[in-house]
Amino acid sequence: MTEVPRVSLPEIRQRAFEILEHGRRRDVASRILDAILVVLIVANVAGVVAQTVPEVAAAYGAELLAFDRLCVAVFALEYAARIWVAPEHPMFERDGPLKARLRFAGTPMMVIDGIALVPFLLEVLFPASTLMPLTRIVRLLKLARYSPALATIGRVIASERRALLATLIILGGVMLTAAAVMLAVEGHKQPERLGDMTKTMWWAAAMLAKIGGGETEPVTALGRIVAAITVMLGIFCFALPVAIIGRGFYEEIRRRDFVVTFAMVARVPLFAKLDAPAIADLVGILRARTVPAGTIIMRKGDRGDAMYFIASGKVEVAPGRGATITLAEGDFFGEMALLSREPRTATVKAESSTDLLVLDADDFLRLLDRLPTFKDQIEAIVAARRSPGSETAPGV
Ligand code: CMP
Repeated sequence: MTEVPRVSLPEIRQRAFEILEHGRRRDVASRILDAILVVLIVANVAGVVAQTVPEVAAAYGAELLAFDRLCVAVFALEYAARIWVAPEHPMFERDGPLKARLRFAGTPMMVIDGIALVPFLLEVLFPASTLMPLTRIVRLLKLARYSPALATIGRVIASERRALLATLIILGGVMLTAAAVMLAVEGHKQPERLGDMTKTMWWAAAMLAKIGGGETEPVTALGRIVAAITVMLGIFCFALPVAIIGRGFYEEIRRRDFVVTFAMVARVPLFAKLDAPAIADLVGILRARTVPAGTIIMRKGDRGDAMYFIASGKVEVAPGRGATITLAEGDFFGEMALLSREPRTATVKAESSTDLLVLDADDFLRLLDRLPTFKDQIEAIVAARRSPGSETAPGV
């Protein structure tokens, strides 16, 4: 009789965590689950939109409702599973299981997942509510978990908040000034439309947003000049935040080919001993880059501007003399040039399609200053790599 291998509950939970929270890049089970959830989210939102069309609702109302219920059941299961595996999360490993789960439930993506389930409860409490489509399409936000672009919009707004606040203040100032000038110029001519600041502020806001002043045409030459200047200032005021967000968004997206997760960073042996806040910091700092097989990632003699951690895949290090060295998942390279401030000591080529976590030189040096243990570990490995016969010194 063949013996069935026994799998313990903690092992199942650990594996479930890896699948749900993307501990490993390119984990097949993780990808299949992601694909199913993404398809369900998109189909669910499409169903919600379709349901608002009376003819579709009349013909397929029951089917659409059944599908919505199915989606809610899957999302609820997903939510429960994520809460169940939370104690495996390296960020909360020092907390007890209950505290870990509560803290995990408060993380932004879990709050979104929770909100995505609220419409169902609302519909049970208030059937036939006109709020239904509004509350259900919140589920689209669940996609943020799978899209580096969506996940970065919050980061863009946060990093550009000063510039955005400045444009908001400029916009407010321009609106108030235009309103006050118009009140002075035409307030007495058109008291019913421009007779007080609330009326002229509405007029100024409409002019600035280029939706026109509606019925309110200036009746004096001076009034028309004020209106023309207000429209032009509007173009300037609205172009500014669009440009700021656009540029920030572009730069953030260039930084990330895939979403860097906490679990992914915690799996890198060099980071394993760091505490949770340090790992959380790294999640924001590391760039994600995917390179196809055969790509030369760096050439011997180049100037060093970043170091790399292998999240999945393999690279070949060719120092020029002696045998080449293969580095794989969890290993890192490109640290020597940053430490010594000398040119790259080897050419590094991707052996297979490889996912890399990239740490820019400035961030690397800051990290060395802040985390002495990290510095000691790296220096020990560099010493091993530099010593003769170091072909056996891949990583940690
Ligand atoms: P750097 O010199 O910045 O760029 C090339 C990288 O190849 C180097 O950093 C190391 O990360 C890596 N490397 C060079 N020699 C070895 C070695 N003997 N073993 C492992 N990695 C190496």
